[in-house]
Amino acid sequence: MGVRVAVVGSLNMDLVGRGPRIPRPGETIIGGEFRTVPGGKGANQAVAAARLGGRVSMVGRVGDDAFGAELLDTLDADGVDRTHVKTTPGVPTGVALIMVDEQGQNSILVASGANMRLSPADVDAAQEVIAGADVLLLQLENPLETVIRAAEVARAHEVTVILNPAPARPLPASLLSLVDVLVPNESETEVLTGLPVGSTEEAEVAARSLADQGVGTVILTLGSRGALLLQEGGSQLFPTFEVTPVDTTAAGDAFMGGLGVALAEGKPLAEAIRWGNAAGALATTIMGAQPSLPTREALEELLASA
Ligand code: RIB
Repeated sequence: MGVRVAVVGSLNMDLVGRGPRIPRPGETIIGGEFRTVPGGKGANQAVAAARLGGRVSMVGRVGDDAFGAELLDTLDADGVDRTHVKTTPGVPTGVALIMVDEQGQNSILVASGANMRLSPADVDAAQEVIAGADVLLLQLENPLETVIRAAEVARAHEVTVILNPAPARPLPASLLSLVDVLVPNESETEVLTGLPVGSTEEAEVAARSLADQGVGTVILTLGSRGALLLQEGGSQLFPTFEVTPVDTTAAGDAFMGGLGVALAEGKPLAEAIRWGNAAGALATTIMGAQPSLPTREALEELLASA
């Protein structure tokens, strides 16, 4: 049947252009192929968890346009329950403009559209789904008060709250104290703490300052360096899996899906981080957000090979 994963988050249609490099401000360069790809951090994490074996329910908003309809279809295709993904009349579906260079690095501009209409009342309407979940996955592409309400509902029902603070913004202690596991990347950690994360030692100091703000467990994703776990009493670096990246888009979302499903299944934290690392690594080997999210079979194969 699968463990139960709730996701309160965003849905975007990604408009993706690939080129030799990302243009500088004011510059125009000729790129290569263009694609529209289902994305949005919330939907990506929902699909990631579903492909890895979770029973996933998503709470979100799309507009009443063609992109919205397509995004709902893609949730259906992956078996994500979208009873609580509402269509918002007169508002466009979220869109992400993504540029990817030859090294697989990206720059993303999000036009949030309907994602910014997701309200605390929408969360209350989906209370049953959150209360019945094993884990709740959150990100920051919706209004902050909505994210806080979702964390409050989860905490009230003893559901594990995993927050991916992306895109980066400073967060109130009132939210951080409701988070069981915080999963920032390097740049998000810098924004949250004001501290550098260039070296592993610096990353550890920054992660510790997040823990001091009331978060139970901090897992700092460090790209090709792996993931740094900071808990009471110490830290541990988990190296990533070696792959050849073509596009890093949604690697962090894949990590969240892997981590969330593994924790919901009762796996130890160290094993759950391996799941996150493996899912994230696999997601970099294929272009686009949701097309790149691995199946459980692919993930288990990579875990077994290492
Ligand atoms: O994390 C990747 C996602 O960020 C993309 O799919 C894009 O929609 C943006 O939300």
